[in-house]
Amino acid sequence: MTTSIPQQRSVVLGVGAYLPAKTLTNEELAKLVDTSDEWIVQRTGIKERHIAADGETTSMLGEKAARAALANAGVSAGDIDLIVVGTSTPDWTFPSTATQIQAALGITHGVAFDLQAVCSGFVFALATAEKFLRSGSHKRALVIGAETFSRIIDWSDRTTCVLFGDGAGAMILEAQPSQGGREERGVLTTHLRSDGRHRAKLYVDGGPSATQTVGHLRMEGKEVFRFAVGQVTDVVKDAFAATGLTANDLDWFVPHQANRRIIDMSAQKLGIAPEKIIATVHLHGNTSAASVPLALAAAAADGRIKQGDLVMLEAVGGGFTWGSALIRW
Ligand code: UT7
Repeated sequence: MTTSIPQQRSVVLGVGAYLPAKTLTNEELAKLVDTSDEWIVQRTGIKERHIAADGETTSMLGEKAARAALANAGVSAGDIDLIVVGTSTPDWTFPSTATQIQAALGITHGVAFDLQAVCSGFVFALATAEKFLRSGSHKRALVIGAETFSRIIDWSDRTTCVLFGDGAGAMILEAQPSQGGREERGVLTTHLRSDGRHRAKLYVDGGPSATQTVGHLRMEGKEVFRFAVGQVTDVVKDAFAATGLTANDLDWFVPHQANRRIIDMSAQKLGIAPEKIIATVHLHGNTSAASVPLALAAAAADGRIKQGDLVMLEAVGGGFTWGSALIRW
């Protein structure tokens, strides 16, 4: 007879989100560049995005999302010993946005660091935190995706400026003993990928070492679209293979919120029923690393995602990077 040894599993205690107060509608954008509400809605599903106020930085958005997640979890900031922030738009070149949020929350113990995987940032941060918790090195993690892409957008380029927005989302994870069963709560499996050959398809044309400037986002939209629909589903299939679960077992599919067409086509390719899709892209556009936790927080707040539900997260971003996380909520 074998005795199963309890493992540590990362259980979601709460989620939270924050969007800046100022909105920018498609109609307002049409006054800035040659575009229309009809074109943007038809090609992307986006209706409006939120723009950070002057002086409102990524760490400020992240702190607000973190406080909402802490309240939702019923956990105080002092109980957090690990902070991982996914962002490509840090307040400063250094120190990290994570340490700024750590200080703003009054946390002086544990560790905080940033992780850069562009739009996959939250899924990468979640996968990283989950491995820390599972190792036993840390007990309670605050995982954040926070961005101010409005600061790196070329506002004269209609092919990119209509797509992005600012925002932040956060999740509290706690290490809890588990027998390893698929019905037990927590992160069941994560799968991360990257392929650096695709840099030219989605990048920022500035940086401290290359140009000593911040730079602007540049993108070959069609190429990114093709990759996002064609390739990215492999990490979702990896999650199914690792757990023996299938698309039919899922309660919710929470993909990166970049484009409604990409979301729908990915779900269709994976055999995920349309009613299982969580989509909030119409409300905030592509907020990069913040997009998945923004969608999660919305669906948890309105009661769609409930304890015990099986939730698949998926994201793709510059690099390319892409990843999945399968969670028993
Ligand atoms: O997190 C990952 C980040 N990126 C993405 O997820 C983006 C992935 N790509 C996409 O979502 C789509 O490729 C876009 C939404 C960016 C573009 O949609 P599309 O169906 O691939 O359009 P297109 O690039 O083929 O452009 C079609 C036409 C072009 O005109 P012509 O050459 O056919 O005359 C564009 O110049 O639409 C024109 N166009 C616009 N028209 C009005 C491009 N941007 C706009 C615009 N308003 N904002």
